[in-house]
Amino acid sequence: MPSANLTVDPAFRVGRVDPRLYGSFVEHLGRCVYTGLYEPDHETADKDGFRQDVADLVRDLGVPIIRYPGGNFVSGYNWEDGVGPAGQRPTRLELAWHSIETNRVGTDEFVRWAGGVGAEPLLAINLGTRGIEAARNLVEYCNHPGGTYWSDLRRANGSPQPYGVKVWCLGNEMDGSWQIGRQTAAEYGRLAGETARVMRLVDPGIELVACGSSHHQMPTFGSWEATVLAETYDTVDHVSMHAYYQQHGADRGSFLASAVDMDRAIDEVVATADHVRAVGRHRKRLGISFDEWNVWYLSRFQTPEQAERGWAVAPRLLEDVYSVTDAVVVGNLLITLLRHADRVRIACLAQLVNVIAPIMTEPGGAVWRQASYHPFALTSRYGRGTVLRLEPAGDRYETAEYGDAPLLDAVAVLADEPDAPELRIFAVNRHQREPLTLDVDLRGLPGLAVASHLAIADDDPDAVNTAAEPDRVSPRRLADRAVDGGRLRTVLPPLSWNLIRLGAPG
Ligand code: AHR
Repeated sequence: MPSANLTVDPAFRVGRVDPRLYGSFVEHLGRCVYTGLYEPDHETADKDGFRQDVADLVRDLGVPIIRYPGGNFVSGYNWEDGVGPAGQRPTRLELAWHSIETNRVGTDEFVRWAGGVGAEPLLAINLGTRGIEAARNLVEYCNHPGGTYWSDLRRANGSPQPYGVKVWCLGNEMDGSWQIGRQTAAEYGRLAGETARVMRLVDPGIELVACGSSHHQMPTFGSWEATVLAETYDTVDHVSMHAYYQQHGADRGSFLASAVDMDRAIDEVVATADHVRAVGRHRKRLGISFDEWNVWYLSRFQTPEQAERGWAVAPRLLEDVYSVTDAVVVGNLLITLLRHADRVRIACLAQLVNVIAPIMTEPGGAVWRQASYHPFALTSRYGRGTVLRLEPAGDRYETAEYGDAPLLDAVAVLADEPDAPELRIFAVNRHQREPLTLDVDLRGLPGLAVASHLAIADDDPDAVNTAAEPDRVSPRRLADRAVDGGRLRTVLPPLSWNLIRLGAPG
């Protein structure tokens, strides 16, 4: 049987987890908003038209921050279209996703809904077709108390208190050929820097995210960040990263090792940001806002087909159905984000409902959790505290895309609940057929005695949840294990994501 071992010692700390690592993303795309979170005719809809069956699952998922309204959508969006009396809002051609946008949901509705599900809004501004003027007006609309044109408009629209939106994305994927109003790094760096400066004049307390590369394989990856950050270092707090992974053909081994790529990409962006810091003699260190990440079967979504679809409100787009294998990869990507908790301050699972999402709905019908919902919800619930540095060792395997990769990936989080200290180990076994023996040296944490174990694993790694079978894939409880002589010996099922909680004797 393959095996791996690791040592957990509280002296070796990566850093504290910023809860915003467990963010998500709502875009005006497909059925994410309309017939996803918002459906006034649904039997569970509240007075504002939001489905409460969906809101309940969002609360249970544990997302403390939600990015909005895009994504590619934001680069053609006029935020003013989405405020004011609903009946007077314009219906527009939405060019990023070739859809009809009714603007029934806009900033006010989203911010109120986010508050109701326990999340703060992370708003993106349009730097594709718009710029400084629209951005500063939106900050004034959201965050200024009153007595000015835009803040009084918010008050007139039903929100007397300012929203206090803290985090703002300066555009979206501005290096992408698919982006409305795409720019070169020099053009974007200049515009983002100036926009940031003016937004801060309206509200000095905001946190700003500059667009990094759209993904690790972009030809300008690295040089884009260097150029943009040279222009914006003083005026922004974070640089964004985005990454989507999928299984290509039958190559499941590489797909299971997707986190190897995410790890490397984070290291490279951190190195680039720190290089700009050194060259510019800056004091502060930038954070990473990994504000789009997930498994996405992008190859199934053919852009040229968009024109053939015609124009529709809330078409079914990007409704990927996630398997056990996809859930294990999602859990593994969370392990990577946690491992970089010293620099990754914000991360957003893209997206939240229906569109490459952990939550699915049928219009007028049911809501259910995808397989990927579970590792996210459990990591968000238990992955809070201090991340400890681990150096796992053990058996490895060969992948076509990433070469030699470890069978085990793991991270440990020490929860600082004063009366009940707990260690949480999140671990993935990438072996597709064999269980993996895991040996954990816990002598540095003498109080821990018992381990409870939840796993996402299945005899069928392609099993999925559907409306008809919503709980086909859900976490399984494995046998408790005792810590013996400061060591835990346990077994991770084949192709599995695992949460092992260690606490004092009950
Ligand atoms: O999340 C789907 C899309 O992926 C977003 O709109 C865009 O930012 C990215 O390319």
